[in-house]
Parts: sequence; C-alpha cells; structure tokens
Amino acid sequence: MSVLVIGGAGFIGSNFVLDWLAQLSEQIINLDKLTYAGNLENLSSLENDARHVFVQGDLADRQLVDRLLVEYRPRAIVNFAAESHVDRSIHGPEDFIQTNIVGTFRLLEAVRAYWNGLPESEKKAFRFLHVSTDEVYGSLSKTDAPFAETHRYEPNSPYSASKAASDHLVRAWHHTYGLPVLTTNCSNNYGPYHFPEKLIPLMIVNALAGKSLPVYGDGMQIRDWLYVTDHCSAIRRVLESGRVGETYNIGGWNEKPNLEIVHTICALLDELRPKAEGTSYKTQITHVQDRPGHDRRYAIDARKIERELGWKPAETFETGIRKTVQWYLDHPEWVQRVQSGAYRDWVSKNYGARS
Ligand code: NAD
Ligand code: DAU
Repeated sequence: MSVLVIGGAGFIGSNFVLDWLAQLSEQIINLDKLTYAGNLENLSSLENDARHVFVQGDLADRQLVDRLLVEYRPRAIVNFAAESHVDRSIHGPEDFIQTNIVGTFRLLEAVRAYWNGLPESEKKAFRFLHVSTDEVYGSLSKTDAPFAETHRYEPNSPYSASKAASDHLVRAWHHTYGLPVLTTNCSNNYGPYHFPEKLIPLMIVNALAGKSLPVYGDGMQIRDWLYVTDHCSAIRRVLESGRVGETYNIGGWNEKPNLEIVHTICALLDELRPKAEGTSYKTQITHVQDRPGHDRRYAIDARKIERELGWKPAETFETGIRKTVQWYLDHPEWVQRVQSGAYRDWVSKNYGARS
C-alpha cells in the first residue's frame, strides 16, 4: 500500500510526510516541483528510508502523473501542491492560475482515469484529499460567526480565488464522475520549516537579524492560528474516516490580531535570546503600507471535524509558538540556506515600495 503526496517538500507537506512516517509504515510517494517554496532539506532525515520515494515534477505533467499512478498504485492521494503566498499572488497571479487551477484540473483527470481502471474493491476504498484554505470564504467582520463549511465562497485575492476554483473542480469531479474526494479548509498554520516570507517566520528571522518587523497597516487584522502538526493529524483523520464528498474546516480556535502575534514573538525572543544592549525586539516593529485587498479577519468553526471525526488540536497557541521560536533559534543554518539570492529579490520587491 502507498499514498501519493503532492507538494510534500513544502512547509505543511514536509511536516505531513515526516509525521506520517514517524507513525505509520505505509510508503509515501512524494511528487514535488521544488519551486522556491519546496525544500528537500526538510526531508533529509528520510534520505535512507525506503518508505519515502521522492520524485521531482509538476502536478500538471499528465504523463508523469499517469506513470506514477501505474507504477505505485496508491490507495490515496493527498494534494498540498500550490502557490501559497498571497503577496506573491498580488505581484504575479499567473503561476497561481497555472498550478492551483490548471494543475488541479490535470491531476483530477489523471486520477479519474486511474480510479476508473481499479478493481471494484480498490475503487471503493480509494480517496483523493484536496488540501485547501479558509481564505476561500473571504473576510469576516469582528462580530461575524466563524466560517462553517456552509459559508458562501467569497475569495478576495488572486491566491484565494485560485484555491476556490480548485475546490470547485474537486467538488465537480465528485458530483459528476463520482471520484471519492475529501476537501479540507484550514486556517493559518505555523511551525518548523515555514518559509520566511510568511508572517511568523519572517518576524522571527528579521528580529534576530536586527531588521525591521514590517506590520501591514494597523496590524489589527485577525488570523486563526494552528500549529502545523495539528493540521497534519487532522488530514490523517479526514483521510481515514471522512465522509466522501464532504468538506471539513480545520482550525484551532486561536484568533489573534497580527500585532499581538508580533508582540508575542518579541517577548519570547527577549526571554530566549535577549539582545546584548538590553532593549526589546519590539523596538524593531514598523508599520508599513497595507496589503491591497487585505482580508480583515479569518476564523474557523471547527465543530464538524470534532463532532464527526473526534479531532482536536494537541497544541495551544502558547505551546506552539514557543516551540516554533525555539525551532528557528536551533536551526540558523536552515534559515541561512533558504535566504538565497531569490529570497532577497522577493524581499526588496515586496517591502521596497511599502516603507
Ligand atoms: P508551500 O508554498 O510551503 O509549499 C508548496 C509546495 O508545493 C512546495 O513544495 C512546492 O515546491 C510545491 N509545488 C508548487 N507548485 C507545484 C507544482 N506545479 N507541482 C508540484 N509541486 C508544486 O505551501 P504550504 O504553506 O505548505 O501549503 C500547502 C497547501 O496547504 C497549499 O495548498 C495551501 O493552499 C494550503 N494551506 C496552507 C495554509 C498555511 O497557513 N500555510 C493554510 C491552509 C491551507
Ligand atoms: O488562512 C490560511 C492562509 O494563511 C493560507 O491559505 C496561505 O497559504 C498562507 O500563506 C496564509 O495566508 P495569510 O495571508 O494569512 O498569511 P501571511 O503569513 O502572508 O500573513 C498573515 C497576516 O500577517 C496577514 O494579515 C498579513 C500580515 N503580514 C504578513 C507579512 C508577510 C504582515 O503584517 N507583514 C508581513 O510582512
């Protein structure tokens, strides 16, 4: 038995692969294009582990995906592969359309052909799990109820629109062709191996480098934070027992304004790596020009997955953020290596015009 994971060298995907193989013996075939966000170093502990087969390639490459399906006959597919950064989608939406929409379409077609050819018992047991986001639901006001699975789709950025489109394709392939799909819509993740273009790792690495901590606008936008291994355990639970054709929202009931997140990171760094001059990392905070179309608030109603599948997060925000800050303090060489020339180009493109 094996599972095909796509995008398993990115932030959540690599945590998922590591967690899976720490707990289960079933083989993982990991297809990843290795874009700027994919990093095989995250998986270096699996170098000599026959349960992990890495293949570099694009989920939109039909020939390659067909070949992998025939060769490994996976019982399930978990698709993490996507362009995932909202700011990048604003600067250049094309890759988001290509990977998140066209790529998902091509993958669905390859999987449909494979699934149709399976013997009846394998066909019945097969699952296609599509990893999506809460951003497809749009933005909430302060007093709105958190997003339930029935919330209407109102994506506001090129990124969230492309993810919403992919969710609709997955839904249609179930409704029309009977493909046994599951969709998960998760809130903001954080934890080890998070690429430092996203809020939490960016603030940690900038603080340690003595750089400014660029808070967009007033910093009162709210996100609902979930430690990455809790997202991974929720996906395993949905894969195991989720009802075919259903969507499950995943979240940790941890709504926080961005400014509070940045203050918490600074306070942890003040404790764990105090500055020689005795000042707080908070002095590095600067407010910069806001993100265009910035969603004000996300919040997940996670009652369905708890009620139906008995899933609950293991980490609180307090335990998860402490582990995360400690991980970045313990892995300066990982940070150094991902901050390549291409990363520096991105930083000047995104932040150059804001300050
Ligand atoms: P990431 O950007 O860190 O990783 C994406 C991975 O996909 C990378 O390894 C990249 O190389 C790979 N990839 C990109 N294009 C590809 C292609 N065409 N073919 C094959 N591989 C390709 O993203 P992440 O933060 O780990 O997010 C993973 C998934 O989870 C995404 O679908 C994202 O929308 C979703 N999600 C993310 C969060 C979050 O907070 N990060 C929350 C909810 C949902
Ligand atoms: O909600 C789930 C989504 O969370 C995922 O689908 C996305 O893939 C993931 O990137 C994340 O999207 P966000 O836009 O919420 O994450 P990001 O880390 O980019 O930003 C979090 C908040 O912090 C957001 O309100 C913007 C703000 N921010 C971000 C950066 C990078 C800043 O204030 N300053 C920054 O430099």
